[in-house]
Amino acid sequence: MNPESTPGRHPVVVIGAGLAGLAVALHLADRVPVIVLAKRQLDEGATAWAQGGIVGVLGSDDSIESHVHDTLDAGAGLVDEDTARFIAERSADAVRWLVESGVPFSADPEGPLGLHLTREGGHTVRRIAHAADATGKAIHDALLERARRHPGVTLRERCMAVDLITHRHVRRAAHAAAGGAHDGRHNDDPTVRRCFGVYALDIDRRRVETLAASAVVLATGGVGKVYRYTSNPDTATGDGIAMAWRAGCRVGNMEFIQFHPTCLYHPQERSFLITEALRGEGAQLLLPSTGPGDAGGQRFMAAHDPRGELAPRDIVARAIDFEMKKHGLDHVWLDATPIVRDKGEEFLKSHFPTVHARCLARGIDIARQPIPVVPAAHYTCGGVVTDLDGRTDLPGLYAVGETTYTGLHGANRLASNSLLECVVLGRSCAEAILAKPAAPVPVLPPWDESQVEDADEQVVIAHNWDELRLVMWNYVGIVRTTKRLERALHRIKLLRDEIDDYYANFRVTRDLLELRNLVECAELIVQSALHRHESRGLHFSRDFPQSLPVSFPTVLTRPARSREG
Ligand code: FAD
Ligand code: SIN
Repeated sequence: MNPESTPGRHPVVVIGAGLAGLAVALHLADRVPVIVLAKRQLDEGATAWAQGGIVGVLGSDDSIESHVHDTLDAGAGLVDEDTARFIAERSADAVRWLVESGVPFSADPEGPLGLHLTREGGHTVRRIAHAADATGKAIHDALLERARRHPGVTLRERCMAVDLITHRHVRRAAHAAAGGAHDGRHNDDPTVRRCFGVYALDIDRRRVETLAASAVVLATGGVGKVYRYTSNPDTATGDGIAMAWRAGCRVGNMEFIQFHPTCLYHPQERSFLITEALRGEGAQLLLPSTGPGDAGGQRFMAAHDPRGELAPRDIVARAIDFEMKKHGLDHVWLDATPIVRDKGEEFLKSHFPTVHARCLARGIDIARQPIPVVPAAHYTCGGVVTDLDGRTDLPGLYAVGETTYTGLHGANRLASNSLLECVVLGRSCAEAILAKPAAPVPVLPPWDESQVEDADEQVVIAHNWDELRLVMWNYVGIVRTTKRLERALHRIKLLRDEIDDYYANFRVTRDLLELRNLVECAELIVQSALHRHESRGLHFSRDFPQSLPVSFPTVLTRPARSREG
């Protein structure tokens, strides 16, 4: 290790400007300087798209035990109960912190903290604080504004983390400087393993910078874009998971990809989500008519689960998939008119203005007509393994939010637990960073572009993106088989070889980096799915339709031989 250190305290670099990243940054910034990176505009990410709301155990009819119970129940036997309790116990404080940060939640003068609480699938009581049906935007706007005004926070948009800088980079550079070839022998010496910073691509300047950091926090969100149909924004390419994996961290439960049951089915819409809170308030799922005398207009959820439309998401998505295949349908209907009947049109419009307006723009009046819906990839339940302070396997590297596996979601996330996890663990992560003295950072090797040139054909990247997403949709979707998974793995490995070759020879661009990360995550999803010889929660295999009596999370460790520097 090069003993020379760069002087002064380095900032904490937070990769991601969603709820997880902003929560960490705001809890740190009074005490240490923080740089927050966002690879697109600052408001692009899943957080700003969240609709239904955030869990708060606030009501007089609610309790920590009840929330823990519902989380465990949805998670199908794989939730870590200590994690669920840690987060439930801090949920009221999390909502209070958001209120104090200026989030305009929907009000109910008679509700706890003056808030209206709604309900979603899998919750036995009303406990979801929300800002109509655009909760994520309300939260993100308020926190981004706080971050913009805070002198300790530097926000850098269109700046994309490429890879983490670790002891391996430092050691390799030291060997090269000493004239010796790097033999990789000391790569995993536990006394020097550490993350020292990040290489980041300034997209407008087309330049990769070396950012030294006293700690790095991955808050990069999920990997929904690995599927052809998804509710996720373009940012969701699993960058944090792939970077941590390449740096030698474990990842867990990647097979559990949550498909949201109800995304708008419309040729001009890119998978717009129709919030589950509609079902929470009384909307019903119906079969469309395909001809005279068929089951058109009938409800079907009761045949799949006694909780009907309010069963956990894995069950509802699978039921819709089953009915679509059985009847040869392109979609099912979500009928919100029962809400109009029971609570009035004004209630529907004021609680769901975003869904109402977006559907109306497509010629669907949700107060009168059913909405055509299909399931789409929505949430990554697995990710980088962390403890409750966001610590990963690599000292100096933390992770928070959808990019992580903390044990909260098990085999299926309970609705509205995700935003909560970002706030609660964002805070504990910041506290853990502050509690540790900053480690010295050695001089870091700059990014080396001496061996690469500008790519000649972007079409290769675009083609591989499409192929990967289609393979994942067709072979690694809601219902899986071993044969399909093996077929997917074979295709993924071919794509991976091509992409690695491209990466080694051409200057990096955002598209190339995202594709490289997507293919890494696709392989982790398929490998994890192949490891699981049962059906559980979001992972359903026709070859192993039963759940095993005893089950464990899937935790993958990268073989030391294949680790990159
Ligand atoms: P994100 O909010 O996705 O932020 C990721 C950030 O990382 C972005 O700023 C992005 O630019 C940045 N980034 C990524 N890669 C890089 C890189 N390489 N370099 C630099 N920056 C990078 N959950 C709930 O609890 N309640 C809900 O009602 C709800 N509704 C949802 C509705 C929709 C349509 C979707 C898609 C999700 C919903 N979820 C909901 C899930 C929830 O929104 C997300 O899990 C949560 O917002 C994730 O927050 P995050 O901070 O981890 O990631
Ligand atoms: C929704 O509003 O249906 C999404 C809620 C969630 O993903 O937690």
